[in-house]
Amino acid sequence: MKKILVIHGPNLNLLGEREPGVYGNDSFESINNEIIEHAQKYDFDCEIFQSNHEGEIIDRLHMARKEFDGVVLNAGAYTHYSYAIRDAIAAIKIPVVEVHLSNIHARDEFREKSVIAPVCKGQISGFGKFSYLMAVDALYYGWKASAENE
Ligand code: DQA
Repeated sequence: MKKILVIHGPNLNLLGEREPGVYGNDSFESINNEIIEHAQKYDFDCEIFQSNHEGEIIDRLHMARKEFDGVVLNAGAYTHYSYAIRDAIAAIKIPVVEVHLSNIHARDEFREKSVIAPVCKGQISGFGKFSYLMAVDALYYGWKASAENE
Protein backbone atom coordinates (compact mmCIF):
# COMPACT_ATOMS: atom_id res chain seq x y z
CA MET A 1 0.00 0.00 0.00
CA LYS A 2 1.39 3.42 -1.01
CA LYS A 3 1.39 6.16 1.60
CA ILE A 4 0.77 9.72 0.47
CA LEU A 5 0.94 12.98 2.37
CA VAL A 6 -1.11 16.04 1.45
CA ILE A 7 0.43 19.29 2.69
CA HIS A 8 -1.63 22.46 2.76
CA GLY A 9 0.27 25.68 3.33
CA PRO A 10 -0.76 29.04 4.78
CA ASN A 11 -4.37 30.21 4.86
CA LEU A 12 -5.71 27.02 3.34
CA ASN A 13 -7.24 26.07 6.70
CA LEU A 14 -9.74 28.85 5.93
CA LEU A 15 -11.04 27.22 2.74
CA GLY A 16 -14.79 27.63 2.53
CA GLU A 17 -14.73 31.09 4.09
CA ARG A 18 -11.62 32.53 2.42
CA GLU A 19 -12.31 34.37 -0.87
CA PRO A 20 -14.97 31.86 -2.01
CA GLY A 21 -15.10 33.50 -5.46
CA VAL A 22 -11.51 32.35 -5.99
CA TYR A 23 -11.22 29.20 -3.87
CA GLY A 24 -14.81 27.88 -3.76
CA ASN A 25 -17.34 27.27 -1.01
CA ASP A 26 -16.24 23.83 0.10
CA SER A 27 -14.83 23.73 3.60
CA PHE A 28 -11.27 22.65 4.34
CA GLU A 29 -12.62 19.60 6.14
CA SER A 30 -14.92 18.50 3.33
CA ILE A 31 -12.14 18.89 0.74
CA ASN A 32 -9.85 16.77 2.89
CA ASN A 33 -12.53 14.09 3.20
CA GLU A 34 -12.88 14.03 -0.59
CA ILE A 35 -9.11 13.71 -1.02
CA ILE A 36 -8.96 10.81 1.46
CA GLU A 37 -11.92 9.08 -0.23
CA HIS A 38 -10.35 9.53 -3.66
CA ALA A 39 -7.01 8.17 -2.43
CA GLN A 40 -8.77 5.10 -1.04
CA LYS A 41 -9.89 4.20 -4.58
CA TYR A 42 -6.22 3.56 -5.32
CA ASP A 43 -5.73 1.87 -1.99
CA PHE A 44 -3.50 4.74 -0.85
CA ASP A 45 -3.11 5.48 2.81
CA CYS A 46 -3.53 9.28 2.90
CA GLU A 47 -2.51 11.69 5.63
CA ILE A 48 -3.33 15.41 5.69
CA PHE A 49 -1.16 18.16 7.19
CA GLN A 50 -1.73 21.91 7.26
CA SER A 51 0.52 24.64 8.53
CA ASN A 52 0.78 28.39 8.29
CA HIS A 53 4.52 28.22 9.03
CA GLU A 54 7.29 27.74 6.51
CA GLY A 55 9.61 25.80 8.85
CA GLU A 56 6.86 23.36 9.81
CA ILE A 57 6.20 22.61 6.14
CA ILE A 58 9.92 22.00 5.63
CA ASP A 59 10.08 19.72 8.69
CA ARG A 60 7.11 17.73 7.37
CA LEU A 61 8.74 17.34 3.94
CA HIS A 62 11.89 16.04 5.64
CA MET A 63 9.87 13.56 7.70
CA ALA A 64 7.91 12.51 4.61
CA ARG A 65 11.04 11.25 2.85
CA LYS A 66 11.16 8.27 5.22
CA GLU A 67 7.46 7.75 5.95
CA PHE A 68 5.69 8.39 2.65
CA ASP A 69 5.90 7.40 -1.01
CA GLY A 70 4.69 10.71 -2.42
CA VAL A 71 3.47 14.19 -1.52
CA VAL A 72 0.71 16.49 -2.80
CA LEU A 73 1.68 20.05 -1.91
CA ASN A 74 -0.26 23.28 -2.02
CA ALA A 75 2.33 25.66 -0.61
CA GLY A 76 -0.05 28.65 -0.83
CA ALA A 77 1.76 31.96 -1.15
CA TYR A 78 5.09 30.29 -0.26
CA THR A 79 4.91 28.86 -3.78
CA HIS A 80 5.96 32.21 -5.14
CA TYR A 81 9.00 32.98 -3.00
CA SER A 82 10.10 30.22 -0.65
CA TYR A 83 13.51 29.02 -1.78
CA ALA A 84 13.68 27.13 1.52
CA ILE A 85 10.66 24.99 0.59
CA ARG A 86 12.07 24.56 -2.90
CA ASP A 87 15.36 23.31 -1.43
CA ALA A 88 13.50 20.90 0.88
CA ILE A 89 11.65 19.41 -2.10
CA ALA A 90 14.91 19.13 -4.04
CA ALA A 91 16.52 17.39 -1.05
CA ILE A 92 14.03 14.51 -0.91
CA LYS A 93 13.70 11.73 -3.44
CA ILE A 94 9.96 11.04 -3.28
CA PRO A 95 7.73 12.72 -5.90
CA VAL A 96 6.05 15.98 -4.92
CA VAL A 97 3.08 17.16 -7.01
CA GLU A 98 2.42 20.91 -6.83
CA VAL A 99 -1.24 21.87 -6.55
CA HIS A 100 -3.26 25.07 -6.69
CA LEU A 101 -7.01 25.50 -6.53
CA SER A 102 -6.86 28.67 -8.61
CA ASN A 103 -5.02 29.07 -11.91
CA ILE A 104 -1.90 30.86 -10.68
CA HIS A 105 -1.04 31.85 -14.26
CA ALA A 106 -4.27 33.82 -14.68
CA ARG A 107 -4.17 36.00 -11.56
CA ASP A 108 -1.84 38.65 -10.09
CA GLU A 109 1.55 38.92 -11.73
CA PHE A 110 3.36 37.82 -8.55
CA ARG A 111 1.47 34.51 -8.58
CA GLU A 112 2.62 33.55 -12.07
CA LYS A 113 6.02 32.47 -10.84
CA SER A 114 6.32 29.25 -8.87
CA VAL A 115 9.79 28.86 -7.42
CA ILE A 116 8.97 25.28 -6.43
CA ALA A 117 7.76 24.13 -9.88
CA PRO A 118 11.22 23.16 -11.25
CA VAL A 119 11.80 20.69 -8.41
CA CYS A 120 8.28 19.21 -8.37
CA LYS A 121 7.17 16.24 -10.46
CA GLY A 122 4.54 18.48 -12.06
CA GLN A 123 1.99 21.19 -11.40
CA ILE A 124 -1.83 21.09 -11.38
CA SER A 125 -3.43 24.50 -11.15
CA GLY A 126 -6.89 25.92 -11.70
CA PHE A 127 -9.35 23.09 -11.10
CA GLY A 128 -10.55 24.06 -7.64
CA LYS A 129 -10.71 21.17 -5.18
CA PHE A 130 -10.36 18.78 -8.12
CA SER A 131 -6.74 19.90 -8.48
CA TYR A 132 -5.99 17.85 -5.35
CA LEU A 133 -7.81 14.79 -6.72
CA MET A 134 -5.93 15.10 -10.01
CA ALA A 135 -2.65 15.28 -8.10
CA VAL A 136 -3.53 11.97 -6.42
CA ASP A 137 -4.26 10.59 -9.92
CA ALA A 138 -0.89 11.91 -11.10
CA LEU A 139 0.93 10.00 -8.35
CA TYR A 140 -1.05 6.85 -9.17
CA TYR A 141 -0.37 6.99 -12.91
CA GLY A 142 3.28 7.91 -12.33
CA TRP A 143 3.81 4.81 -10.20
CA LYS A 144 1.79 2.67 -12.63
CA ALA A 145 3.97 3.81 -15.53
CA SER A 146 7.21 3.08 -13.66
CA ALA A 147 5.94 -0.37 -12.58
CA GLU A 148 5.13 -1.17 -16.23
CA ASN A 149 8.60 -0.10 -17.33
CA GLU A 150 10.37 -2.32 -14.82
C1 DQA B 1 -3.04 28.99 -4.01
C2 DQA B 1 -2.57 30.15 -4.91
C3 DQA B 1 -1.59 31.04 -4.16
O1 DQA B 1 -1.20 32.12 -5.01
C4 DQA B 1 -2.23 31.61 -2.94
O2 DQA B 1 -1.31 32.39 -2.22
C5 DQA B 1 -2.84 30.57 -2.06
C6 DQA B 1 -3.59 29.51 -2.69
C7 DQA B 1 -4.14 28.16 -4.69
O3 DQA B 1 -4.40 27.05 -4.20
O4 DQA B 1 -4.75 28.60 -5.66
O5 DQA B 1 -2.80 30.65 -0.85
O6 DQA B 1 -1.93 28.14 -3.76
